[in-house]
Amino acid sequence: MNIKGKLIYEGKAKKIFAHEDLDKVIIEFKDDATAFNAAKKAKFEGKGILNCSISTSIFKYLIENKIPTHFLERIDEKSIIAQKIEIIPIEVVLRNTAYGSICKQTTFLPGTVLKDPLIDFYLKNDSLNDPLLTRDRISLMGILKFEELKYLEDLTFLINKLLKEYFLNLKLDLIDFKLEFGWNKNKEIVLADEFSPDNCRLWDMKAKNVKMKSLDKDRFRNDLGGLINAYSEINKRINHFNSST
Ligand code: TMP
Repeated sequence: MNIKGKLIYEGKAKKIFAHEDLDKVIIEFKDDATAFNAAKKAKFEGKGILNCSISTSIFKYLIENKIPTHFLERIDEKSIIAQKIEIIPIEVVLRNTAYGSICKQTTFLPGTVLKDPLIDFYLKNDSLNDPLLTRDRISLMGILKFEELKYLEDLTFLINKLLKEYFLNLKLDLIDFKLEFGWNKNKEIVLADEFSPDNCRLWDMKAKNVKMKSLDKDRFRNDLGGLINAYSEINKRINHFNSST
């Protein structure tokens, strides 16, 4: 049985419920969207279902390609079962193309393709506004040892390679994304959280003009409108690709 137990945690975009098997949790995707550390908030009807669908497809693809993840199964339109994990309190951002915060903090112009993919770490701490971290700070705070951090970086580069290829088939350019990882009950590091247009940037290679190219949460961040249409388009391309392979 997959009945949602008590609410364990409510985040900005997901709720986590207990599962009768204590090694598992049920994760429900919400329609809420936030940006700029929740300074901006809105609700988009249908976003939870779309993100659950997109994230499920991406996690299944990564699992097929031997990436360790928390994902177990999708149980309804907006819920999945996942391994219960202890979250590692860092956000791992990988950038293929400079956009967003990196353009405010460096001299990279928006849209510059980076020579090599870049990984940036941020502390998962809303009250500190998720500050940028260094490897030494991560180690000094006791979050991860150097070799664990190296493993996490290698895994992130591999995930990027797999996903860049995946999205290229869908005529989508993977600009950047944010990942979260956790420790499972066997003390293994696994990919956790979600992979959806809420936490990545995807540009439509078929877009007719620049205003149409973002198919991700930048539509909300930058008041471009059409968020549900954009997420639906990604979901449609994924489903079309899944049914043709
Ligand atoms: P940034 O340009 O704000 O640094 O964002 C880089 C990527 O990380 C982008 O795909 C959005 C994603 N992201 C999150 O998923 N959560 C966050 O809290 C932030 C700041 C970024």
